[in-house]
Amino acid sequence: MDDTFFDKKDYKPLDRVDGRMKVTGAARYSAEYTLPNLAYGVLVGSTIAKGTIRSIDSKAAERAPGVIAVISHQNVIEVPGYQPDATQSTEPKVGGGPLRVFYDNKVYSNDQPIAIVVASSLEKAQYGASLVKVQYNKEEHITDFEANAGKAVVAAAAKKNPKSPTADYDRGQKDAFQTAPFKVEAEYVLPTEMHNPMELQAITAHWEADDKLTIYDKVQGTKTTQKTFAKEWAIPDQNVKVIATFVGGAFGNGLHSWPHESAAIIAAKQVKRPVKLVLTREQMFTMVGYRPRTWQKIQMGATKDGKLVAINHNSIGQTSVYEEFTESTLAQTRMMYASPSVSTRYRLLPLNVATPIWMRGPGEATGAFALESAMDEMAHAIGMDPIEFRILNYTESDPDKNMPWSTKFLRECYEEGKKRIGWENRKLKPGLLRDGEWLVGYGMGTGTFGANRGPATIHAELNKDGNLVMHCAITDIGPGTATAMVQIASNTTGIATEKIVFHLGSSEFPNAGLQGGSSTVNSVGPAVQAACNALKQQLITMAAGKNASAFGSAKPEDIMLDQGNMQITGNMSAKLALGDLLKQNNVEKIETTQESKASENGKQYSMNAFSMHFAMVHVHPLTGQVRVKKIVCCADAGTIVSPKTAESQMIGGATGGIGMALMEDAVMDHRFGRYVTKDFGDYHVPVHADVPDIDVYFVNKPDLLADPVGSKGLGEIAIIGVAPAIANAVFNATGKRVRELPITPDKLI
Ligand code: MOS
Repeated sequence: MDDTFFDKKDYKPLDRVDGRMKVTGAARYSAEYTLPNLAYGVLVGSTIAKGTIRSIDSKAAERAPGVIAVISHQNVIEVPGYQPDATQSTEPKVGGGPLRVFYDNKVYSNDQPIAIVVASSLEKAQYGASLVKVQYNKEEHITDFEANAGKAVVAAAAKKNPKSPTADYDRGQKDAFQTAPFKVEAEYVLPTEMHNPMELQAITAHWEADDKLTIYDKVQGTKTTQKTFAKEWAIPDQNVKVIATFVGGAFGNGLHSWPHESAAIIAAKQVKRPVKLVLTREQMFTMVGYRPRTWQKIQMGATKDGKLVAINHNSIGQTSVYEEFTESTLAQTRMMYASPSVSTRYRLLPLNVATPIWMRGPGEATGAFALESAMDEMAHAIGMDPIEFRILNYTESDPDKNMPWSTKFLRECYEEGKKRIGWENRKLKPGLLRDGEWLVGYGMGTGTFGANRGPATIHAELNKDGNLVMHCAITDIGPGTATAMVQIASNTTGIATEKIVFHLGSSEFPNAGLQGGSSTVNSVGPAVQAACNALKQQLITMAAGKNASAFGSAKPEDIMLDQGNMQITGNMSAKLALGDLLKQNNVEKIETTQESKASENGKQYSMNAFSMHFAMVHVHPLTGQVRVKKIVCCADAGTIVSPKTAESQMIGGATGGIGMALMEDAVMDHRFGRYVTKDFGDYHVPVHADVPDIDVYFVNKPDLLADPVGSKGLGEIAIIGVAPAIANAVFNATGKRVRELPITPDKLI
């Protein structure tokens, strides 16, 4: 049998291969490139949320020491890729496209970048920016979601594609909910949440020639970014080089190209110097996406013995007035449970805000809060254990696509998770369990995300020192991509992990898509496998050839690789180090480039990763304080390639889920259409003291229909289902159902 890595159960978890570089500061992030003649950019943002700019007075700024230029729509060079015929109004609509920075005098949202001040130092640019005076013709903005929810419309994406998760969907009987014996009808609200990775968004833009651009940029896709800016400047793709060797967290906000990137590139071109631009934390709230505020309503019907008969799920998400952003909020409602009748309605509300973007577990994390809360509400209404209720409505095939699952091991997650959290201590009725002064509650929530495999290409070479070096354009925003790829390569070739290097994060390297949508291991992993197998074949051919002294006349099929050596089956004394084999053949290295493509299996199988999260919480009845005491995360993500980094990824997802459930809330002052939460002082995320012991369980069964590595993806399911698990635990502790996140103490007392 082929020695693919899932047959090797005894490998030791690998430490992060770039861990030392990260903790010693050797890892270079986008803001840490110092180029000769570097200038610094600082953005000036609008102070109105809608209207037009009457004038920008930049004279004082231009006279300030060190200021090189103040660039705005008044004096900007032409950006050839901006489409003049796509001129947009500031009126709400769906469809549209990305903001064209400095294109004209229109203002669509507060803190929209309207000028960039370029100076010889950061401080001088900041001072210059403070001197820019702007006059506006202010118009009345709309930013208040609740006040304008009636204006929500069908997404342009839904009109284009009737099969999209944003299109209206009905299966079964229209009135099934109305006639159901048990009914739950409830509305759920998720506030706007900000990605807020530790690393600020940063770009260093350098025009190496008039038509040759290099950017050091915090992005999740080097190739996609290359294409975007090549188009924007009407130059060939290969003239744009995108470097993102290290990314200090992103959670989705590097999946889109943003106005500040265009601004830095324009500035570098205009002042003919490389320009570095680092956003402030406040600007991270206004110009690089966020999880959109979303209202949801669920109507759920069930029989008295716990069989679902209907789920109607409606949602309204917000987007900007210039660009449509949609996400798959309602996708899992269609496929998670065996309900004969399901209807979903997705609507969009364009507001005078910046465009949202996918944020970890995009769509599903939002939808799961409503669906999994409603499931808990229904179990409670019937008087049934919420796990039993879910198992009663378990789907053995995908009821939406009408196809079998490639694999689904969610039952295993329920069973193992129950044991680990101590579910037997849970009381069916809320409010009965105490620990000293504290009320105690247990809750759970299920998650799912599509196993999205895309194409990827690896270049691999083995040199005469026995080192294996690979290159790929994929980025690593933190999960440990290089570590996982080194592990796959080691398990495919038998070469020790210390002798393998995986280079990533450059558009100069072979093609890969975005690091997003939990798609890296299942897309890039198979390409690594293919490249390693191709190298193995070359080695075997070489070993069977005349120059391989140790092997004489061995047949190729008897030759194998183990621990960096060529060996002959049944003759362990014949052993030749890979490097020596190359030396004997007088070659410096052997190399290969291999592409892996998505398989066709998606046409016959529905492929999803599944997760199940349990939470145990303490709630103080007098203060309303919630302490998450324990979390158990169980995942059916297919093969777990790199157990240590995978566990860390689950811990990270659960931590994000605690933030969703209890803290994160971007609060806007609608008088100005501007966020009042604009730093970590106001916008709370979990800190160490908020995060309990997180116990991670992986089913770890390969899904070979999904891809040859067997991975279904992990990044998203790590967070999807965590927030409702906590909300359900709070209900179990207190009997109070909070349907608007975050669950702050004021909502419990
Ligand atoms: Mo993620 S939202 O796939 O970075």
